[in-house]
Amino acid sequence: MATNGSNTRVVLARRPEATATPDCFSVETLPLEPLDAGQIRVAVEYVSVDAGTRTMLRGEGFHAQVALGGVIHATGVGRVIETTDPAWPIGQAVRGRLGAQTIATVKASGLTRVDDSVGSLSLHLGPLAGSTGVTAWVGVRHIGKVVASDTFVVSGAAGAVGSMAGQIAKLDGARVIGIAGGPAKCAHLVEHLGFDAAIDYKNDDVRARLRELCPDGVTVFFDNVGVPILDDVLDNLAMGGRVVICGAVSQYDHMDRVEGPSLYLRLAERQATMAGFAYFHTPELIEPATAELTAWVRDGVVSLPETVLEGIERYPEALQFMFEGGNVGKLLVKAS
Ligand SMILES: NC(=O)c1ccc[n+]([C@@H]2O[C@H](COP(=O)([O-])OP(=O)(O)OC[C@H]3O[C@@H](n4cnc5c(N)ncnc54)[C@H](OP(=O)(O)O)[C@@H]3O)[C@@H](O)[C@H]2O)c1
Repeated sequence: MATNGSNTRVVLARRPEATATPDCFSVETLPLEPLDAGQIRVAVEYVSVDAGTRTMLRGEGFHAQVALGGVIHATGVGRVIETTDPAWPIGQAVRGRLGAQTIATVKASGLTRVDDSVGSLSLHLGPLAGSTGVTAWVGVRHIGKVVASDTFVVSGAAGAVGSMAGQIAKLDGARVIGIAGGPAKCAHLVEHLGFDAAIDYKNDDVRARLRELCPDGVTVFFDNVGVPILDDVLDNLAMGGRVVICGAVSQYDHMDRVEGPSLYLRLAERQATMAGFAYFHTPELIEPATAELTAWVRDGVVSLPETVLEGIERYPEALQFMFEGGNVGKLLVKAS
């Protein structure tokens, strides 16, 4: 691939006060330096846009923070174009913390080889990625312990993790209800992903719809969003219900004053449990999860639509787009 001898990258220009608007970022193009021993150069094809990235920009979240003037942290996929390590030959398909840029110069320790026979490299940022497919698999199987008799509800249902979580719960035999923003996303969940029902939190009374759809209560809730939807589900929890805290995208604009559920006493009243997780705390599950997800993708058993913005300079726009609910399925920026 031709690099023109330069790398175009997106850097943090100022820390966002609330919403991460495009003016918080700047785009710069720098010449490529010769490689040092042990370095590998990767032409980035796709960059993952993740909700959690928002918590890396204000110097206050759980994740490693982006330095002012530093390249935005992002997982990417691409191919090796220059190498000092024969174990990483030119053309090798890789995934890693490549950053929001067109050319990444990294150490081998930051890279994973990926199987490019499955399909587009972008699959390794979606259904086959740690922060998407594996997260959903771990949350459904190991935290939610979903079984066929469950009534499974997932918020952020039309996004990347939510779409995968609902499909996996369905494969495990549960009745699956998704909560998402807008009629088009709700129709997509039922018509294309095989969910049993969907609730439009922007237009429906979520608490009332849950009562109608789940008269015996919600047995597993996979939460990507947080309050107020979390309170609506807690109010409809079945006896012995399990609440899986995967994330809380409604809170990421103000991580210094996260709002929790006011109805948490429903846990005591219903002998219920709430458990959080981050997929990387169970590294032993990544390989079995990836193997099963790969088989499902190859067989067409699960699918995850992609929303792709073209050009690395559109990364800031993409992040804002996600927090406005613009994406269906996995949100990606095509870097090159
Ligand atoms: N625990 C882990 O290991 C782990 C790993 C990766 C990700 N996560 C979490 O998984 C969740 C999903 O992440 P993702 O990267 O796959 O993003 P995503 O679901 O593809 O995109 C985020 C979606 O959230 C919805 N949303 C945004 N603001 C909202 C609000 N205020 N209230 C309700 N919904 C809102 C939007 O859809 P609508 O149109 O429906 O509003 C948007 O499309 C996040 O909470 C993330 O932190 C956890």
